[in-house]
Amino acid sequence: MNRKFLWGGATASYQCEGAWNEDGKGESMWDYYLHNVNTEAPRGDTACDFYHHYEEDIRMMAEGGQNAFRLSISWPRIFPENMNEINQKGIDFYNLVFTCCREHNIEPFVTLYHWDLPQYLQEKGGWLNEETCYDFAKYARTCFEAFGDKVKLWTTLNEPYYSNQNMYLAGNYPPFEQNEQHFAMAVYHQLLASALATIEFRKFNNIGEIGCVCDTHPVYPLTDSPEDKEAAARADDWFNWIFLDALLKGTFPTTFTDSVKHRIDYSFAKKEHEAIFLAGKQDFTGINYYSGASIRAYHGGETFVAHNNSGKKTEKKDDSDYIVRQRIKDSFESVENPALSNEYTAWDFQIFPKGIYDQCMRIAERYGKDVPIYIAENGIGVYEKLENGTVEDDNRIYFLQRHIDWLLKAKEEGANVSGFFNWSSMDLYSWMNTLEKRYGFVYVDYNTMKRYPKKSYYWFKDFVADFNRKNNN
Ligand code: BG6
Repeated sequence: MNRKFLWGGATASYQCEGAWNEDGKGESMWDYYLHNVNTEAPRGDTACDFYHHYEEDIRMMAEGGQNAFRLSISWPRIFPENMNEINQKGIDFYNLVFTCCREHNIEPFVTLYHWDLPQYLQEKGGWLNEETCYDFAKYARTCFEAFGDKVKLWTTLNEPYYSNQNMYLAGNYPPFEQNEQHFAMAVYHQLLASALATIEFRKFNNIGEIGCVCDTHPVYPLTDSPEDKEAAARADDWFNWIFLDALLKGTFPTTFTDSVKHRIDYSFAKKEHEAIFLAGKQDFTGINYYSGASIRAYHGGETFVAHNNSGKKTEKKDDSDYIVRQRIKDSFESVENPALSNEYTAWDFQIFPKGIYDQCMRIAERYGKDVPIYIAENGIGVYEKLENGTVEDDNRIYFLQRHIDWLLKAKEEGANVSGFFNWSSMDLYSWMNTLEKRYGFVYVDYNTMKRYPKKSYYWFKDFVADFNRKNNN
């Protein structure tokens, strides 16, 4: 494939489209949950209304010097009521979007599943049901057939670790469970679904490349003690290698299965799946990088994961005060480590730009320098106000500049870094953090849906133009 370095922004269907029940779209598990369970929480019914603003949004990307756009397809827009009937209006919408991208020389980088599972599948067990994997492969094939002439870069899933952690360990995403067995099962089934979809993709000739977007973390032992180093190696399997090995090598690290088999029943991993994983190996990897993980040994207690999405900084006196607390039975715990960095976002995510370099180099070392790496998300959530028609988001510029500098260093040193997407293209809905948490290059006034480029939009435009000039991109 002729590989230009891709520069753009990223979005996800539920977080940007809105039009939650228009043109035949069915209900996703997030629609169901926010309409029926957590009815007080802000929802993505309208989000930033990309459904009705896609032309303007894509035009602004092109005018901002971007050459790529990461977005996801909403599964319940394509198969609204069941897996037998296709909604032609859903197909038509994405055809318009991808045509618009091509007209503006924007490369669409398309994710098939960014968490909006059809509710009718969730009611049958969702990712705990092996059938969902085969349904996913069917949905993927439908998309390859419908959009394969316009889309050349596909990814199967978004963040199979983080989403399942929140669904099945922290219990802050639907279906709100704290059940390690279910967590392991859902992860495994998502990876199986990804392999099945990749096998479908291979049946088409020459339609592009396929990967998966993972939220991997560079892992650092808290101390040099052998105990912490061993714990960090277990955390590496848990956060990174079970995903990337399955996707890029078609196998699972035995160090992982050996260390958890006394407490997780792996009977869902059937012998006949082994050939599927091997045949479903992928072409590239997508990485979402937000922060690193400091790890120390943890023995004795139970598995416990907590998430704090309040957006309020605290004294960090107990577990629920931390943005994320992970303790994995007989294995490791993630801890604060000011030695890595003492800088935090308003939501208390540790800011650690060098981690993006470390992670690319580690991936290149483990899977070879040929494997293309796309940074599918990196960015900072900020409370922002529109003033005089813009936002002076110098903190975003400072954040992105440092991450991109480290990323380009990894590229120079031989990692096959092939693209970078800021989360997000424009402001959009944040799963647990309301519309107040803004990530975009473009400010969205949610009352009028008017778009306003921020200072970072112009900074990125200049930065990309300079990169393209120097690198003949
Ligand atoms: C990633 C997701 O985990 O981080 C996005 O892929 C998400 O969907 C982004 O929005 C930022 O997270 P949050 O919770 O701040 O919106």
